[in-house]
Amino acid sequence: MAADPEQTNPSGGLNRRRVLSGIGVGLGVGAAAAAGSVLTHDHDTGGRATATGGTAPAADGGSQIVAFRGPHQGGIATPAQDRLCFAAFDVTTTDRGQLQQMLTSWALAAEAMTKGLTVPGDAGDLESPPIDTGEAEGLKPGNLTITIGYGASLFDSRFGLAGRRPSQLKALPQLPKEDLDPGSSDGDICVQACADDPQVAFHAIRNLRRLGTGVVAPRWMELGFGRTSSTSPAQATPRNLMGFKDGTRNIDAGDAAVMGDHVWIGAEEPQHWVRGGSYLVSRKIRMLLEQWDRDNLNDQQNVFGRAKASGAPLTGKKEFDTPDFSAKDASGDYAIPMDAHVRLAAPENNRGLRILRRGYSFTDGIDPVTGQLVGGLLFLAYMKNPDQFVTLQRILGAHDALNEYIKHLSGGLFVTPPGLAPGADWGAQLFG
Ligand code: HEM
Repeated sequence: MAADPEQTNPSGGLNRRRVLSGIGVGLGVGAAAAAGSVLTHDHDTGGRATATGGTAPAADGGSQIVAFRGPHQGGIATPAQDRLCFAAFDVTTTDRGQLQQMLTSWALAAEAMTKGLTVPGDAGDLESPPIDTGEAEGLKPGNLTITIGYGASLFDSRFGLAGRRPSQLKALPQLPKEDLDPGSSDGDICVQACADDPQVAFHAIRNLRRLGTGVVAPRWMELGFGRTSSTSPAQATPRNLMGFKDGTRNIDAGDAAVMGDHVWIGAEEPQHWVRGGSYLVSRKIRMLLEQWDRDNLNDQQNVFGRAKASGAPLTGKKEFDTPDFSAKDASGDYAIPMDAHVRLAAPENNRGLRILRRGYSFTDGIDPVTGQLVGGLLFLAYMKNPDQFVTLQRILGAHDALNEYIKHLSGGLFVTPPGLAPGADWGAQLFG
């Protein structure tokens, strides 16, 4: 195990001298075994640790470090960062020990990277590939969070985990009007890396993938170039690719009571090891952008039930005004139409049901056949029970006016375990 490198000095900066032991499995094991390399931060740039020298990060204020350990994993209640790199993996080994060892190495690497350090283990050995791929050196920690999740398939017969499967982790039912691509859905393990710098997020996924060589293979991956939700009232509401403010009535992730009621898995779950975690539903939703861009403003607003410019409900004036679902316009129709997205999704109309949305805009470039833009929303949402998503999507999939302009391409359901206590790691947490 690596020594915990986070030791604060009296002036509040990070202690620059770290002695870390090797952690690699699979590729680069030889170099990773080189225990005792000294990692240091580059003080002048406020950047990441390097093997060559330097000092504290974020000299210009704010450490940009989100705590890796604690009761909950980072990246859920953490105020949504600007960028995302998300990957799902299939486990390719049949060796339970190898999988456990990889997860242990991932936790140590993830902890180091969130602190703005390089992946531990590099000895500067000229004959071996470096353990850390290097592209994040000199960059700030960027509020990086690395959140791990497990799909239902991991709890099949391969690794003896069937007895530890969380009770709600099972295939989602077929939902209205959906035809998801199985090849780019699901996965045994998922990793969500969020940061305010896209290269920091990409570096995190790339390096975990590298540490997992011979144990896991990537199944699908997506880059998110802009957050589409605010998860804290301190954040300005961002806009999605349809140009609408998104996240206005999202859960405030800083509200512990609401998070306890709707997001964190609690005592209702018989598998103790996932209490304090959360279920993550992902959906890659393409927006038919050219079609949307030809729609008139009035119709666009009716689709959501909100004004495009201000984000106000069609029954209000300001963004945070509470929608009035009973209000009618001069012609006697509901001011927020019956098929408007917010009417169908609102807790008032769903027995108080809420989810924490934490999605990102994506683009896959241009469709080579049609020449159209391929882009949309990588919908990510955390909840106490996946039934919350199923209930909402049954209604939205069947009735939402938005359906004319979107298409669900792929998806996944994962359980994200609680955060790690000091000394704990993902391998031991999963296998018990
Ligand atoms: C491309 C697809 C989608 C887009 C563009 C979109 C966009 C929006 C927008 C603009 C709002 C209003 C602002 C806000 O309160 O955040 C909203 C609200 C909401 N959406 Fe979506 N959404 C999409 C898909 C989904 C899906 C798949 C779900 C869940 C199954 C969902 C659940 C919600 C919920 C719960 C609200 C809050 C409603 C309220 O409390 O008023 N959305 N969405």
